[in-house]
Amino acid sequence: MAERFLVIKDLHVNVEDSPILKGLNLEVGRGEVHVIMGPNGAGKSTLANVLLGHPKYEVTAGTIEFEGKLLNDLKPDERAKLGLFLSFQYPEEIPGVTMENFLRMAKIAQTGESISITKFNRILREKMDLLAMKPEYASRYVNDGFSGGEKKKSEILQMLVLEPKLAVLDETDSGLDVDAVRVVAQGVKQYRSSENAIVIITHHSRILEYIQPDYVHFLIDGRIAKSGGPELIAEIEQSGFAALQSQSGRA
Ligand SMILES: Nc1ncnc2c1ncn2[C@@H]1O[C@H](COP(=O)(O)OP(=O)(O)O)[C@@H](O)[C@H]1O
Ligand SMILES: [Mg+2]
Repeated sequence: MAERFLVIKDLHVNVEDSPILKGLNLEVGRGEVHVIMGPNGAGKSTLANVLLGHPKYEVTAGTIEFEGKLLNDLKPDERAKLGLFLSFQYPEEIPGVTMENFLRMAKIAQTGESISITKFNRILREKMDLLAMKPEYASRYVNDGFSGGEKKKSEILQMLVLEPKLAVLDETDSGLDVDAVRVVAQGVKQYRSSENAIVIITHHSRILEYIQPDYVHFLIDGRIAKSGGPELIAEIEQSGFAALQSQSGRA
């Protein structure tokens, strides 16, 4: 491997003292799109949260390295400054703070550089257009009264505005109608480049009708049970996770 972008080695993670990730290995190269699939409770969201340094998720063994830096002991904001981004499975509502202000402040916090309201507004409108979001979203409170689809779009909008090096999208397709899935996929396609990488976490394959990943991994019981190319998706659609689980055993 020429360059080390994201390297996760033998990762063990506890949540409230129960082991959830049990020796997970994963490498993601710059320019790659990876999909992580797995049944409910497998540890997918745990992986996403631990990557971004959520304090509730305790790394008991193993390492997470990003561009050669050890992330294990870094705080979420330090990881964001290094270029990591997580879109949440259940985005928070922030009444009283408009989308536009929130995104501008997030951008300033991440880059450490000021950006004028006018300039930011121009960038924001451009990104919102890509996601077919109506201009009035910019002045609504963050996720307040948003439908499931609107919340997901607002997460994708955040990604487009922050331009992270590594984006982890947790269940970005769940709770979306077909049109919204298409729009989110559009946003991911816009963002995808040889300079960044995307990890899409999902328990079904609908969004994959629109996004062609480079690698697919099955996360079962806290470990990557199987990895391969997009052809693995057809396999899971036919036989389901249960078959894979018995096939892979406890190896
Ligand atoms: N914040 C949390 N508090 C307590 N238990 C949690 C928490 N997050 C995850 N878990 C537990 O960890 C396991 C894996 O959950 P999760 O990572 O959300 O799985 P997935 O996203 O694959 O459905 C589940 O048994 C879940 O109950
Ligand atoms: Mg989850």
